[in-house]
Amino acid sequence: MAQAIVVLDFGSQYTQVIARRIREAKVYSKVLPYDTPVSEIRKIDPVGLVLSGGPASVLAKGAPKPSKQLFNLGIPMLGICYGLQLMGKMLGGEVKSSQRREYGRGKLSINRKGPLFKGLTKNFTVWNSHGDCLTKLPSGFRELARTENSSFAAIEDPKRKFYGLQFHPEVEHSEHGTEIIRNFLVGVCGCKGDWSMEDFTESSIRNIRSQVGDRRVILGLSGGVDSSVAAALIHRAIGNQLTCIFVDNGLLRLNEREQVKQLFKNHIPGKLKVACAGALFLNRLKGVTNPETKRKIIGKTFIQVFDDEVKKLGDIHFLAQGTLYPDVIESVPIGGNPAALIKSHHNVGGLPKKMKLELLEPLRELFKDEVRALGRTLGLPEAVLMRHPFPGPGLGVRVVGAIHQQRLRVLREADAIFIDELISHGWYHKLWQAFCVFLPVRSVGVMGDERTYENVISLRAVTSSDAMTADWAQLPDKLLRKVSNRIINEVKGANRVVYDISSKPPSTIEWE
Ligand code: XMP
Repeated sequence: MAQAIVVLDFGSQYTQVIARRIREAKVYSKVLPYDTPVSEIRKIDPVGLVLSGGPASVLAKGAPKPSKQLFNLGIPMLGICYGLQLMGKMLGGEVKSSQRREYGRGKLSINRKGPLFKGLTKNFTVWNSHGDCLTKLPSGFRELARTENSSFAAIEDPKRKFYGLQFHPEVEHSEHGTEIIRNFLVGVCGCKGDWSMEDFTESSIRNIRSQVGDRRVILGLSGGVDSSVAAALIHRAIGNQLTCIFVDNGLLRLNEREQVKQLFKNHIPGKLKVACAGALFLNRLKGVTNPETKRKIIGKTFIQVFDDEVKKLGDIHFLAQGTLYPDVIESVPIGGNPAALIKSHHNVGGLPKKMKLELLEPLRELFKDEVRALGRTLGLPEAVLMRHPFPGPGLGVRVVGAIHQQRLRVLREADAIFIDELISHGWYHKLWQAFCVFLPVRSVGVMGDERTYENVISLRAVTSSDAMTADWAQLPDKLLRKVSNRIINEVKGANRVVYDISSKPPSTIEWE
């Protein structure tokens, strides 16, 4: 059994980011609810404990509180933000609601390094988000560092190996955050740092087996990174108890259905059902031009087709989804992210409760790059793992205005050329996403001696790290010229190519 760190979750939106930082230090971590009984924690036999931040105030009635026994486990502990205040208060210190909320960047001044700040400079920038402040230390503790607003920005009880940080070392805006966490893991808890993604794969397989038992699972496969990795992982765990369903909604890219079948044949040798429902989708979308209406129709029809396939399979207990951690936060609008509300996404919670299936989400704690690393341990090809994201409604949101076969054909052919050239010029992997958009605008051109009157294709290529913000990519002239020439010469129905130079915000990545 690998050395484990338990992260107790007090509701911060960064709890999984803490777990990720621990994994980055090659240490195994397990996130548990804050009120997990101490006896359960003892069974895991962790070498250290992290108390996460959280939105509550320790001064509020009913604030989340763990059992006092937690402090008698005899293992090192790191309290972050709410975790520090909780530790301070429960061990006999004093917490007050501060006059000024400390939010955003702050300057940390270290006056005693201890093992936590070993090897770091004395002053650096950290990221804060708290209203309360520890005003009196519990006995046994001493101050390590302060910021302008809190004199106990970092504290330690060297005897019991208890540490507290008022700021968030796990977020990227905190300088040296990774080193501080590593110092706690290695310097304080004595972790060896020899845990790997292979270990994660193995433990996920064990967990899936014990959760599923001998029951059956279905998974909606899109051919994208997340659902492919989830399928490969679950198949490795339970073999033919898994059935994957791939819905061809008629809005896929060139040859996409064949590629998914091929992926399955070569790498996930399990049961795959392909539902060819293009005609149904396109029929329902006939004449519809409003982007949200299109999305709703596509979403609803998908659920219906999927549900019909599930019914045909008989006794199914689990619905597996390749939900990632960022999908989870994007779908929770609290404190966060209005972007999820701008367009109706359907990654999370998209399938209706009436299906009465239990969810199986083995990637829920992971971030995209970790999912790719997991996929590598399962032997999936790079072409699948490094694939750009593709929206659920597919080309339906890339044909502006009404959707019909002839427009889809033009778009598919143009898009395949763009992607082909990006790959051969070595640009595909430098981009977050790249695709073509069909514009229902006709313009005049001349080909040979003939006048043409055809549609416009817009190229979209963006760089981004999380799709929340994005910048248009400065593709080389030579590449743009080649793509434009090829599309106009090879794709019947397009006689003009434009390049979209809008960033997000204020634009979005997809056009609809
Ligand atoms: P926008 O257009 O909102 O897109 O800037 C952000 C990212 O989300 C993808 N996207 C979707 N993905 N279902 C999905 O699974 C959807 O309905 C959907 N809409 C947009 C988009 O491709 C980009 O990566």
